[in-house]
Parts: sequence; structure tokens; C-alpha cells
Amino acid sequence: MIQGKTSNLPILRRPVRLGFIGCGMVSRVGHGPAVKGDRRAVVAACADPDDQNRESFAKPHPVCVSYRDHREMLEKEDLDAVVIATPPWLHAEHVEDAAKRGLAILCEKPLAGTIEDCDRILAARDRHGVLLQVGHSKRFEVGFQRIKEWLVSGKLPPPHQMSVYWHYYIPDFTQNPAKWFLDKSKQWLGRDLLKEWGAWRILDPRSGGGDFFDHGPHYLDLARFLLGEIESISAETNNLVQSRLFEDQAAATLRLSTGCLVVLEKSNQVIGRPTGFEIGYLYAEGVKVKFECEQEYQLKPMRVWRYGLANIPLDLWTPAVSPWGKRQSLYFRQMRHFLDRLTGQETLTRKFEGPWAATAEDARAAVVWTKAAYRSSELGIKVKRGELGL
Ligand SMILES: NC(=O)c1ccc[n+]([C@@H]2O[C@H](COP(=O)([O-])OP(=O)(O)OC[C@H]3O[C@@H](n4cnc5c(N)ncnc54)[C@H](O)[C@@H]3O)[C@@H](O)[C@H]2O)c1
Repeated sequence: MIQGKTSNLPILRRPVRLGFIGCGMVSRVGHGPAVKGDRRAVVAACADPDDQNRESFAKPHPVCVSYRDHREMLEKEDLDAVVIATPPWLHAEHVEDAAKRGLAILCEKPLAGTIEDCDRILAARDRHGVLLQVGHSKRFEVGFQRIKEWLVSGKLPPPHQMSVYWHYYIPDFTQNPAKWFLDKSKQWLGRDLLKEWGAWRILDPRSGGGDFFDHGPHYLDLARFLLGEIESISAETNNLVQSRLFEDQAAATLRLSTGCLVVLEKSNQVIGRPTGFEIGYLYAEGVKVKFECEQEYQLKPMRVWRYGLANIPLDLWTPAVSPWGKRQSLYFRQMRHFLDRLTGQETLTRKFEGPWAATAEDARAAVVWTKAAYRSSELGIKVKRGELGL
């Protein structure tokens, strides 16, 4: 048994016994390998009604007992914590069930599909007094940590703009050649690529929104984490592929309390590889910063470059030196921080104070602002913080 440093942290034995609720893509490629890579925890059990996803997730984890029903897992297994990686409309139910048993929780973003469900999550956390960390994984990117440290130390003056361009290419699955490819994968290889990719994102009315709902919360949260409170949002969206339920193109402009403007572009209709590109800039007095994130499942840290007065003669960006390798990627570092909090250790070094992970309040704010972006687009208005009860 080891004792947490702070009195309100749980006392946990070693290794921490984790249960997984939801064994799809992010569990298999992100969180599962992150637990394995940490060594302070084991995947003791997992639950997922999908046999194929559950079995392929459980395979690399030698002591993992698997269940179709998460409640049965929670009843039978002696767990310390759970990772909830189900689609957003299930998060509230899964958080409530885990919190009731006093388990610490790492719950994926978006916190929930509706504000009502976000509130259920906050209430469950408070009622049972459990640790709840939300998977706003970008906070743990080595590059964003570096930017945060530059901001805190003053090496990067307060920016007057952040611009992010995050684009994929997800073809219309109802049209050839994508339709042909999907049909043949099923027929010849027995693979349901739509399920494997998580097509609930664009086809399920419960998902809470479209492409901007899936990814916008990452940068809405990051803007607050790095730069300051959001004061207003204006957005425009389009639904370019008519067979999809929600938008697949969005452009949002935010004003922060510092006066900084944030410009977010997100689409899955920009031609190129499905993995797309994710680049951004921060502009401040006398310096600009460029960043480029790898597609998250590559498990590679993002890259950051600076450009200041000294760069002007040769017009070259200066790369920021950051540790490299799978263990420095966002899911590994996020899990490490979660395990640090459970065990009272501090294995990730940082040069900034205060909370690192997104709280349920932060994650709720990201959902509220994403919904506000939809309202802005629908009504052709700017939505201000005062109207949102934040
Ligand atoms: N932080 C990030 O960088 C990041 C990246 C990818 C996904 N996500 C989030 O993670 C969550 C899951 O996404 P995904 O891509 O893994 O989706 P996915 O569709 O691949 O996996 C979801 C899994 O949940 C399972 N499931 C459905 N109902 C269940 C139930 N009642 N009990 C247990 N399992 C159930 C499904 O069968 C599926 O295996 C989403 O909220 C998504 O937005 C976050």
C-alpha cells in the first residue's frame, strides 16, 4: 500500500487495478498501451458489449477479465479506478455507476452529449467524492506543456491570437469509391470499417453534434488552459455531406478575457489522407510560435517552433527541443498524470503551478462553448459568456 501525498487522495495498493468501460479505438490504441507502458497499473478488467472490440482490447493485457456488461464488471472485480471510453451519450451513466462504487475515473471527452448529462456527471462526482479526470489529452502534449511554460515564465508574451487549422478527409460513405471499399472490406475481410472507425460520430443522433463536437472541445479547453477565459464565440458551420446528421465544416472565432482572439477551423471535408493535418500558430509581441500535432494514434509528440527577431534575417523557424518517443505522447503522459494523482507521486516534471488535468467543470465548459458555437451559427449571432451561466 502507498499513501497519497495529499490527504484527500485515495490510498492505493500497487499495482493500481484499472477497469475499462468501452474497448474501442482510443482504449486499444491510446489508453491500453499507456497503462502497459507505465507499470504502476494493470488493466484488471474490461467491459464492452462488442465482442470483437472487447477481445482485441483484452488480448495484450494478461490479467484482464472481460465482461459484456460494465455493471457486472464493477460488481465482481476489485478495482481502484476506471477508464471510461464509450461514446459521449453513455458517459453520464458510466460515471454514475463507477462513482457509486467509489472508483477514481478517467473519463473521455467530450464530457457528455448534453449539458444535462454534464451536470449528472458533476453531481455524481460530488455525491461520492471521487477523483474525476477528463480526457482533454492535449493538455499533456509535450509541446503544449512547453508553450504553457513559456507563457508562465514570460518567454512568450501574452499572445494576441491563436489560430488552429485541423482538417481531415472523411469521404462520403454512401458514395463510391468509399462505399465500394467498405462493402468489399466487409465481404472479403470480414471487417466493419465504419464500426472500427467509430462512425457513431457522424451517423448517430445521440452523438451531441458533428465534427466540431468531436474535436472542438479539445481547443476550447486548451484556449482556457493556456490563454484565458472565453468571453464570446461566433461560428459558422456547414453540412457538406448530406448523408451525415451534423456539420462537417466549422469555423469559430473566440474572444478571450485577455483580448486574445482564437480562430478555430475544423473540417473533415478537406481533401487528403483521412488522418489529415493539425497545425496552429500563436502570435505575440515580437514572437510567433508554430505547432504541428501528429495524428494522435501515431503516438508521437507534437512539434513546436519559435520565430522572433533573430529569425528574421534567415527567415528560419527555431525548433523547440522536446523529448521524443511513444512514452512522451499524449495518452502516455495523460495516464501517467492520472496514476500520479492516484498514487500521490509526481513523475512528470513541469514548470507551472496549479491543476494540470481538465476537471469536470473545465470539460463542461468545453461542451457549453461547443453548443454555443452551434447556436451562434444557427441564429447568426455572437454568444457571450454571461448568457451561458458560466
Ligand atoms: N482524447 C482523445 O484524444 C480522444 C481520441 C479518440 C476518442 N476519444 C473519445 O473517446 C470516446 C470513445 O471513442 P472511440 O474512438 O474509442 O470510439 P469507439 O466507437 O471506437 O469505441 C467505443 C466503444 O464503446 C463501446 N460501448 C458501447 N456501449 C457500451 C456500453 N454500454 N458499455 C461498454 N462499452 C460500450 C463500443 O462497443 C465501442 O467498443 C469518445 O468519447 C471519443 O470522443 C478521445
